[in-house]
Amino acid sequence: MPEENKKSLTLSVKKLRKSFGPVEVLHGIDLTLRGGEVHAILGENGAGKSTLVKILSGFEQLSDGELHIGESSGNSQRIDVWNNSIAEQAGVVLIHQEFNLAEQLNVAENIFLGNEIKGRVFLDKKAMRAKAQEYLDILRSDIDPDSPVERLPVSAKQMVEIAKAQAKNARVLVLDEPTAVLTQQESQVLFELIDRFRQEGVAIVFISHKLDEIEQIADVITVLRDGELVGSYPAAELSKDDMARLMVGRELSSLFPEMPKVPAAAEIVLRVSDLLLQGNSAPSSFELRSGEILGFSGLIGSGRTALMETVLGLRRPAKENLGRVELRGERVDFKQLSAARNKGVAYLTKDRKGSGLLLEKGLTFNFSLFSLHKISKLLIDTKLEEIAFEKAVETFDIRMKDKSIVAGNLSGGNQQKLLLAKILEAEPSIIIIDEPTRGIDIGTKSQIYHFIGQLVASGHSLILISSDITEVIGLSHRVAVMYHGEISGVLEGEEIEEVEIMRYATGLKNKVSPQIKQNGTSNAKA
Ligand SMILES: Nc1ncnc2c1ncn2[C@@H]1O[C@H](COP(=O)(O)OP(=O)(O)OP(=O)(O)O)[C@@H](O)[C@H]1O
Ligand SMILES: [Mg+2]
Repeated sequence: MPEENKKSLTLSVKKLRKSFGPVEVLHGIDLTLRGGEVHAILGENGAGKSTLVKILSGFEQLSDGELHIGESSGNSQRIDVWNNSIAEQAGVVLIHQEFNLAEQLNVAENIFLGNEIKGRVFLDKKAMRAKAQEYLDILRSDIDPDSPVERLPVSAKQMVEIAKAQAKNARVLVLDEPTAVLTQQESQVLFELIDRFRQEGVAIVFISHKLDEIEQIADVITVLRDGELVGSYPAAELSKDDMARLMVGRELSSLFPEMPKVPAAAEIVLRVSDLLLQGNSAPSSFELRSGEILGFSGLIGSGRTALMETVLGLRRPAKENLGRVELRGERVDFKQLSAARNKGVAYLTKDRKGSGLLLEKGLTFNFSLFSLHKISKLLIDTKLEEIAFEKAVETFDIRMKDKSIVAGNLSGGNQQKLLLAKILEAEPSIIIIDEPTRGIDIGTKSQIYHFIGQLVASGHSLILISSDITEVIGLSHRVAVMYHGEISGVLEGEEIEEVEIMRYATGLKNKVSPQIKQNGTSNAKA
């Protein structure tokens, strides 16, 4: 760290405790953030990571303990009053795990929200737009500064948050799971930016469940377990196995289950033929067999989500009369999601906040929303509902200190587990899941993979869209790869490996339409 760098700050907490009502979730944490260091915080879902960083950045108040702030060279002083506007004035900037954007405003307006550039009389919109473009260029992002935020896919929203942080001149930059919704490529761009901030003397807090990333960029690692501090370590001293063990407090078993083979004669439960996505020139065809996991790989924007949403009736195809979707040989034309659900097809969206959970409602309510028919035809049998919920809590290891909280007060990873439990509780025969383990800790991931293994062993079929290539390779019987809105290849057996998948994902190889131009024009969004 450059000695002369006056921008650097040190921010620390001592014996920090936090309670929500009667329930204590952080039990005496000591932590020091230093300028020029990337400080990773590791811990299972619900361990208290987000709560800790919300306190550091003034979004939550501490219940007990002390906060100290100082220039890196001089003395630090105790802070008495701390809230998010004081924290931001001091240069402490948090990018929330669940985004905090004004959906109706456009990208440039969001980037400068509360931080507007003023002309002599009015806001200087031109200057803000130009500056916003500059920040987006640094992220090598092609997001349009004029585009309304509500129309952006989740990964783009995350990029806007990161652009916004650049506008704030941060001295302490806190990133709560920024890469959960980003592809590997986008994450690498973010890491370059983090590196630059580190060199400029900014203190960075980085939360992620992806241990590779922690290994790549952290200088210091602090591990939390169930609200307790396990310890802070120089990153060079910990292997990924050490990290996982310290977090979970035990050795982990194998990440992936042994998958049963799909018999050659297995029934085709879903057949999609010649479905043409809006804005694309090449149609897609694929089939899913009973007991099979069909992975979908591809870069962001390659059309994976768009394809599934077209199959499910959430979007219309480009040519209505061309493509076919058949369920067990019967032609279907879903116009909405509930029609698909009635036929035993369930869909887990990747946009948890937008269309997943009712954050203001209770946990059991959210859980049984789709499967009420299983519990009672007329009245909700709360007893049965409770039993089913208890079982799901165990299977998916959903952790909360208090069962009466609303879904929005679950930790991010536990919200994802609740969503997954809710989808699967309806016992669909075909399950389409988009980024199912996003933000879920490594111990629970393994539990969920084993559960998925049991599901397919009992004849359920699954389509898995995931940017986690290890997950796609570890679980799938076959992998369909998408490029520019079409399926460029379906890989099986030995072919399923990372480099080969990347060749199809980047257009270097194409089994289906080998003649397609490298720079094909497509505007499919995933
Ligand atoms: N506003 C709230 N009211 C009640 N309980 C809360 C509230 N916010 C968080 N909690 C609880 O505090 C605990 C810690 O949650 P936190 O979000 O800090 O976990 P986390 O480590 O960030 O987990 P994840 O990896 O899943 O994001 C959880 O038990 C959570 O349910
Ligand atoms: Mg969190």
